[in-house]
Amino acid sequence: MKDILAQLESRRETARQGGGKRRTDAQHAKGKLTARERIDLLLDEGSFEEFDMFVTHRCTDFGMEADRPAGDGVVTGWGTVNGRMVYVFSQDFTVMGGSVSETHAAKICKIMDMAIQNGAPVIGINDSGGARIQEGVASLAAYGEVFQRNILASGVVPQISLIMGPCAGGAVYSPAMTDFIFMVKDSSYMFVTGPDVVKTVTNEVVTAEELGGASTHTRKSSVADAAFENDVEALAETRRLIDFLPLNNREKAPVRPFFDDPARVEPSLDTLVPENPNQPYDMKELITKLADEGDFFEIQRDFAANIITGFIRLEGQSVGVVANQPTVLAGCLDIDASRKAARFVRFCDAFEIPILTLVDVPGFLPGTGQEYGGVIKHGAKLLFAYGEATVPKVTVLTRKTYGGAYVVMSSKHLRGDFNYAWPTAEVAVMGAKGAVEILYRSELGDKEKIAARVKDYEDRFANPFVAAEKGFIDEVIMPHSTRRRVCRAFASLRTKKLANPWKKHDNIPL
Ligand code: HXC
Repeated sequence: MKDILAQLESRRETARQGGGKRRTDAQHAKGKLTARERIDLLLDEGSFEEFDMFVTHRCTDFGMEADRPAGDGVVTGWGTVNGRMVYVFSQDFTVMGGSVSETHAAKICKIMDMAIQNGAPVIGINDSGGARIQEGVASLAAYGEVFQRNILASGVVPQISLIMGPCAGGAVYSPAMTDFIFMVKDSSYMFVTGPDVVKTVTNEVVTAEELGGASTHTRKSSVADAAFENDVEALAETRRLIDFLPLNNREKAPVRPFFDDPARVEPSLDTLVPENPNQPYDMKELITKLADEGDFFEIQRDFAANIITGFIRLEGQSVGVVANQPTVLAGCLDIDASRKAARFVRFCDAFEIPILTLVDVPGFLPGTGQEYGGVIKHGAKLLFAYGEATVPKVTVLTRKTYGGAYVVMSSKHLRGDFNYAWPTAEVAVMGAKGAVEILYRSELGDKEKIAARVKDYEDRFANPFVAAEKGFIDEVIMPHSTRRRVCRAFASLRTKKLANPWKKHDNIPL
């Protein structure tokens, strides 16, 4: 028996070595951790339970039968993050470049099937040279099996992708279909076709980092949701994100202990909005002052910064925040902001995370660039996302909300549950100057008359009371008591039940 146990231990040890010391050293020299080191940092200590450690590929072409490393280039299994179950796969670049064979993909599919069945998130750590070249179409088919599971798991369990090395060609489409993508600066990249192909086809000369590095995907393409300095930071932040999320679409997000008074008064909020309506202020200040212990996990910080998305907790409960940012493009909505916020709202709704919307929006960004780019369709995404969401929705209007953007930003008319306004708020079809120029065009030569008209318009509409008289604003609240009001609102909505009419699925404008 002793020999048998020793044999098992020795087999395990061989599997744990992955591609051996030389390749592990090369991995470390690139500033990257190994597949197992990453899992160790991601999961609670000692919680990892591995599957399929001894799986090997079955390829016999190109002399492959001589080289059949245990595990076949991916480490899979489950473990816990702060005591809550997650499934994980971590591609091992030291074994044939982490390339995806039929058996490698089957291991990933096995844990994805279990995650869907048992209701726990899937975290995929990508570090791979793509389809295993020696296996040809079998490898492509295997990718297809993974893609199909990404699709079936979407909206059922949270899926998070960490890109920690190469991820190229069709392989990008697995992470692309997951809920969040995190990248590591300077050591990861994603692209459909690499720099060489780009040069051949379009004559553009571009580096891998420029084409598909973390900065490109968090700032330009919005493919990725955050970029981190190194593997360690990315893994730690993934643990932080998981803490905000439910394990699946039938459970609520976890309630964390909190040490922050829900009735905390913030006198500084009374002066957050400047007197001059054209002067910006930082909406993030409001978010962190509302949040339990000021903790805010931002999603897509570096893309479409005119809208802010991310998670906070109120009374220990996860809340998704969407907020216009007056410091960038005056907080107006455009194509990018609409897409960014719509996807976030839909994630929250799919996983029963209530939504807090903070509004200060002058409208949609004008211009041919926006119209030719289809702002009509993209803006409709956000409108649609808010309108279909059945989770608790609380809205606070801090300053202005004009035109179509008023309806879009979680208004009463899109089944907003609580719509609060600060006394500084104004709800109107447009700003006073624009309105007067249209209504009193014939008087435009008379500056005094026009000034009086503007004043008149402001007196009538530059306040929240016209909307409040109609019940479109439920209550005008003191800025300093916003945390208390919002916490109470969400507390009253914990039993909310609302369902949309039966349908196979909707047809959101894509
Ligand atoms: C088999 C592969 C491999 C692959 C790398 N390796 N990619 N083996 N299939 N796709 C092996 C190498 O032979 C090498 O083995 C080891 O992994 C490390 O690779 P290196 O080239 O030495 O590493 P590096 O210099 O860091 O370059 C990494 C790389 C490069 C940029 C990823 O390996 C590369 O270009 N690989 C091919 C990428 C590719 O074209 N893949 C197919 C994409 S199409 P040894 O034994 O020396 O350690 C695709 C389609 C998916 O993926 C379709 C889904 C529908």
